[in-house]
Amino acid sequence: MATVAPGRMAAVNEMTRLLRLLFEVEREFLRTVTTLVYRVGEPELKYLICQHAWESAGHARFLRERGRELAGFGTGENVRASLRRIFVEAVGSTAADPLVLLAGFYTVLKPTLLAAYRHYLKVTDHLADWPSKKLVEEFIADEERHLREIAPCLKGVDARAWSLHLTQALGDLGGWLGQEPRLPLAAGYLWQQDQSPYRHPATCNRGQYPVCSSVFGFDPTEDPIVRPWLTDPTTDARVIRLLVYVWLMMEMDAIDYLATVFIDTPDAPFDLHHDLARHLWDESRHSQFGFRQLPKLGVDLMTVEHSLDLYNILVRMPPHERYAMMTMEFEAGSFPTKAHVMDRVRELSDFEADTLLAFDRNDEQNHVRYGHRWLPEMMALCGETRPTEEFVRATQEKFKQFAATYGGKTPHSLPREKRLTGEKILALARLH
Ligand SMILES: [Fe+2]
Ligand SMILES: [Fe+2]
Repeated sequence: MATVAPGRMAAVNEMTRLLRLLFEVEREFLRTVTTLVYRVGEPELKYLICQHAWESAGHARFLRERGRELAGFGTGENVRASLRRIFVEAVGSTAADPLVLLAGFYTVLKPTLLAAYRHYLKVTDHLADWPSKKLVEEFIADEERHLREIAPCLKGVDARAWSLHLTQALGDLGGWLGQEPRLPLAAGYLWQQDQSPYRHPATCNRGQYPVCSSVFGFDPTEDPIVRPWLTDPTTDARVIRLLVYVWLMMEMDAIDYLATVFIDTPDAPFDLHHDLARHLWDESRHSQFGFRQLPKLGVDLMTVEHSLDLYNILVRMPPHERYAMMTMEFEAGSFPTKAHVMDRVRELSDFEADTLLAFDRNDEQNHVRYGHRWLPEMMALCGETRPTEEFVRATQEKFKQFAATYGGKTPHSLPREKRLTGEKILALARLH
């Protein structure tokens, strides 16, 4: 038997060890930062977090790919407890101010990640380890941009105490790579996660915007999306375009409830979270389609009530049931109506609208594919043993019951004269 000379691969092993740590940090960042999506209120901030979460998933994926080319990266994907503890701490309690928590992620954890990437670049050989160097250079540019993009959202937020709390936890590790001198934690350090473990809030935050239970209905004097109008061949195409933009904007619901799934699936394989991150980012772009286009068509966004029912109902169900409803019911069931809507909108020769709807459709087809791929795995993670079809049918029934019990509880923020309704959409369509 050949004997392995100790230290022969030491130079590679040391860099692989660092890549492995960076992979774990990126994937745990993704799992935890997503808890901010439904806790912050500003749509633009939700969109930005979704985008950064997706970019982190990309970093983790390429780190894993490169790491596996090197000896000693390991085949497992789990995050070690010492790193996990800090990210779970950063999630904070349910009662915490989400902007303070945001500051924790973006003024402590992310800058420390940036420092870790810079350290990697400094200590690795630029010729021998060129493949990693190229990746890390790109990630550094991404991390610097993330900090710049979030900075305006943190203006005026006093997060000094919380940032110090997280800095101390990180100091105990000596940074993500242990490259700094360790500053052991004081004996009296209190981990918040042990005092008040995080739970999802009962409702999602939509900030300054008016809210309601649902934007779908049948009464043009009450609801913006009058269901029969979507498929009625006599509906003016300009009305259909406005309706579908409201519909797209309200994919904000999908953003908020899908974002809850990451933290609830701590043992998921990385590829599951990777595809979930893509799904989340896609929904954030779909919502932006509506958010950006509606004002151009004369809609004052402060008159568009945000629907809270889907989050409020689904958050009471376990993660695999949320994901089953999303992919197997809402998404799989939306194609026929959306196809009709796309044909009607094409009458307007509005190239931009056609483009947005075409990409939406393409993305949604991928989401249903993700559902088929990952739902059985998520069921297994959650201890569900029924066949998938039986489970989906039972979940659809359960959702109906939960909707009857917990849905429809959010009153309209605005009187009908002030809020966007079907009638108002008819009037706006005549002008645009
Ligand atoms: Fe979507
Ligand atoms: Fe989708």
